Amino acid sequence: MKVAVLGAAGGIGQALSLLLKTQLPAGSELALYDVAPVVPGVAVDLSHIPTAVKVTGHGKDELDVALKGCDIVLIPAGVPRKPGMDRSDLFNINAGIVKSLVEGVAENCPEACLGIITNPVNTTVAIAAETLKAKGVYNKNKLFGVTTLDVIRAETFVAELKGLNPANVHVPVIGGHSGTTILPLLSQVEGVSFTDEEVANLTTRIQNAGTEVVEAKAGGGSATLSMGQAAARFCLSLVAAMQGENIVEYTYVQTDDSDDAAFFAHPVRLGANGVEEILPYGELSAFEQSAKDSMLEGLRGDIKIGVEFVNA
Ligand SMILES: NC(=O)c1ccc[n+]([C@@H]2O[C@H](COP(=O)([O-])OP(=O)(O)OC[C@H]3O[C@@H](n4cnc5c(N)ncnc54)[C@H](O)[C@@H]3O)[C@@H](O)[C@H]2O)c1
Repeated sequence: MKVAVLGAAGGIGQALSLLLKTQLPAGSELALYDVAPVVPGVAVDLSHIPTAVKVTGHGKDELDVALKGCDIVLIPAGVPRKPGMDRSDLFNINAGIVKSLVEGVAENCPEACLGIITNPVNTTVAIAAETLKAKGVYNKNKLFGVTTLDVIRAETFVAELKGLNPANVHVPVIGGHSGTTILPLLSQVEGVSFTDEEVANLTTRIQNAGTEVVEAKAGGGSATLSMGQAAARFCLSLVAAMQGENIVEYTYVQTDDSDDAAFFAHPVRLGANGVEEILPYGELSAFEQSAKDSMLEGLRGDIKIGVEFVNA
């Protein structure tokens, strides 16, 4: 299994690479790429950890070397939010970064599964899809927006509120990855009930959790450690599924469901070729249905911006 992290010298990239170095199956290869000159040093640093995962570091002229032969590519390259910024404020810088890196993927490892972490995810995943289509190598089963952070935050906050072990709490989160497009399905959390007030407060907290971190870091960036953990969980699930395990993760994929949006986070059964099956997200409570109805137009608009960016 070869995994590449593009943007590997950043806050998310380093945390994610550390977790992958310690948790990928023995015999795997981890390729780190970044335009920051420190990236070979990050690779040397990680290479001193005694696991049977080979780490290589690649600077700005070696995107092709990093990508050749990859099974999975994760992209956290780009700028993070500062206080007062919305994820869509990152579009101008991050859209071009994602487009050029995905062109590299199309040229060097078109068969790889691709996980987009760079914000605004609602839009950058559409940019990736259009870029791959323009290169004639798009496979909708191999492109994922990584929304796992919303899931792990929801699990943490529910466990905290109800005094449970977070390891035993599972919270479905559907929709997109910004503000009200993040839709936790608290009505489906097994063995736990909530008052209407708890549902309203928890939903808002999960939707604004990223901003909680941005404000607490006071200009020093956004979530990196929890995001590293979330992306590692997603990647390791994908690796296990590619090796034959039956695994479901919530992730933002192309659904072709005209009642929702072209891309929408669903429970997805992963397999050897990426998406094995997009599962239904089940019945919604009246609160969730109304929250979904009111966010759909915004999510569709975010996707349209990505499609137009590539095709303009
Ligand atoms: N999906 C999510 O849930 C989620 C959560 C948190 C943050 N994010 C997003 O992840 C991105 C990265 O956040 P961070 O905190 O790690 O930022 P960071 O600034 O710490 O790191 C970004 C890295 O990307 C590198 N980079 C920039 N342009 C590049 C290019 N063209 N090729 C390769 N590398 C390039 C930079 O050199 C830097 O090392 C941001 O867009 C942020 O908004 C997503």
